[in-house]
Amino acid sequence: MHIPTLQSVTVEILVDNFFDVFEPSRPGIVERVVPGRLKKPLLAAHGLAYLITLNQQGKLTRILMDAANSPLPLFNNLEALEHGLDEIDAVVVSHGHPDHYGGLYEFLGKRSGGPLPVYLHRDVFLPKVLVTPRGRIGPWVLNLDQLTAANVKSCENEGPQLVMDQVLLTGTVEATTDYEKPLPSFRRKVNGQDEQDLFPDEQALVAVVEGRGLVVIGGCSHPGIVNMVKYAQKLTGVQKVSLVLGGFHLTPGGDELIKHTIQGLKDLNPELIMAGHCTGFRALTKLAAAFPDNFMVSCVGTKVMVVGG
Ligand SMILES: [Fe+2]
Ligand SMILES: [Fe+2]
Repeated sequence: MHIPTLQSVTVEILVDNFFDVFEPSRPGIVERVVPGRLKKPLLAAHGLAYLITLNQQGKLTRILMDAANSPLPLFNNLEALEHGLDEIDAVVVSHGHPDHYGGLYEFLGKRSGGPLPVYLHRDVFLPKVLVTPRGRIGPWVLNLDQLTAANVKSCENEGPQLVMDQVLLTGTVEATTDYEKPLPSFRRKVNGQDEQDLFPDEQALVAVVEGRGLVVIGGCSHPGIVNMVKYAQKLTGVQKVSLVLGGFHLTPGGDELIKHTIQGLKDLNPELIMAGHCTGFRALTKLAAAFPDNFMVSCVGTKVMVVGG
């Protein structure tokens, strides 16, 4: 599949689980915020929202990927980082969990302008349930009618599709590793019947940057972050990986999954790995130890830049 080559991709972490003022910057690659210089304090929360700026020959396109777990951190951090709602040209929903769309209706309701393209897999609308040691939670449902009523142009997919003719949404991720298995605690309802959620609705956003290769961005990466990167390589025909970013959802899968995923990422050899959100503290510490030079924690307010050339 042909994906246009971009001159740069910048991802600003609007909402994530972490904020740590001691995490270092890397000039020109990773910029952390200085809290005392912000308009207001940032909020970390168990949710995800990325502001992704694509540069195609000087033309800038801004994509909101995921909309946090609630309006509170989303609107607070947009204001703290001095972004207006109308800067955003399109929305992508990574998958149908509410910590990724909790602020979406309010975001759509507050913006002005014409219909906003919202890209998502058609299965995100199925009710989702989580089985925990403390009981069943959910169901959560993202409501298509409510979206449509909010001046949205819904762009649904199952297989790969382009977003704004510039970046790729993978569609259902092909599972090729033997160690990344969906956890049985995740359930969904299909025609009223409860079944294990294998996450056909979760997809990665993939950009190709001139001379740098792939930028692969996941939400929770329930299908497995290594599966997602490998599938991005297969779809684009580009092997070189510059950035892998997302929640990796590893700690609940146990130490074997963490160990195999670290090896899988080593084999893919990305220039930079940045993980946050649902990766889990234990997995983050192991990733940090395994990749002393090219792993960083995703914190709210961080900007990560992949510049071509
Ligand atoms: Fe999540
Ligand atoms: Fe999730």
